[in-house]
Amino acid sequence: MHASAADRLLHHYRRHARDLPWRAPPGEPRQDPYRVWLSEVMLQQTTVAAVAPRYARFLGRWPTVEALAAAPEEAVFAEWAGLGYYARARNLHACAKEVARLGGFPTTEAELRRLPGVGAYTAAAVAAIAFGADCVAVDTNVERVIARLFALPGKADVPARAAALLPASQGGDFTQALMDLGATICRPRVPDCPACPLRNDCQAYALGTPEAFPAKAPKRQRPHRFGVAWWCRQGDAVRLVRRPARGLLGGMAALPGPEWSEARAAVQPLAAVRHVFTHFSLDLLIVAARPPDDGWWQPLDRLDEAGLPTLYRRAVEAALAAERQPRLAA
Ligand code: ADE
Repeated sequence: MHASAADRLLHHYRRHARDLPWRAPPGEPRQDPYRVWLSEVMLQQTTVAAVAPRYARFLGRWPTVEALAAAPEEAVFAEWAGLGYYARARNLHACAKEVARLGGFPTTEAELRRLPGVGAYTAAAVAAIAFGADCVAVDTNVERVIARLFALPGKADVPARAAALLPASQGGDFTQALMDLGATICRPRVPDCPACPLRNDCQAYALGTPEAFPAKAPKRQRPHRFGVAWWCRQGDAVRLVRRPARGLLGGMAALPGPEWSEARAAVQPLAAVRHVFTHFSLDLLIVAARPPDDGWWQPLDRLDEAGLPTLYRRAVEAALAAERQPRLAA
């Protein structure tokens, strides 16, 4: 049963594969490993729709891993602005340098895994998609498809089950077929089971409760924090600083300000923005202030070049909007 389930999936993929900019169509020569690796790093935590235009722009700027390795780190951070999870940008750059030093990407999952910032998922994805290795990269889409196929309550057994299904020499297409099925048919909610090539193999479908697999982890309450950002203007420029290299938004351009805390500062803000990070939510109060010594004056008409992460881009927009508002009479 399992071998034929894999055949059905591959057959379906050959007919319905999504046309994605980082993907070689099924059966065509494989993509450049640099492009595969870049796409897989960008696609972690970020949607296909958000990644597509950024991927093209990134490649336009740095078409090869050697070009990326030679770029200043700050330029890479700025190019990553808005994509979130900025540790990815630092790791990406470190990895590019190492690959350039090695003279190219290693070709096996085990060697790829040793590159800076390359985890189990990325190593398997690049090995399978770029080099045709016999492995399956397990992301959340693949997890869901496999958990439903075998009615697995948890995710622990997914990699072994997926590996057991994998037909020889089909790692790239098989991984991408599972990803596409998870994204388009075996969706988290309201899966389109009538359109699924694995319907008759699927134990969750047979049970009548596909959405129940894999079991959802209980939702944790997100803690809330407060921050203050200083709004310092000089003519048509605003003061920006670079955040410390380590930690949240590490290395990114930002408005200056003290560290965030659990308590709301007793200040009268010019504006405020609420932002939700993975592990907490934040109210950032924007307060007019004197400029700190560190940092630089960024012309407001060249704000894009600073590469502000979304939180600070929204904060700047909110402060500018507040400045434009005529003061309400007290
Ligand atoms: N999500 C992560 N990697 C992907 C890929 N290679 N194709 C489609 N969706 C993906």
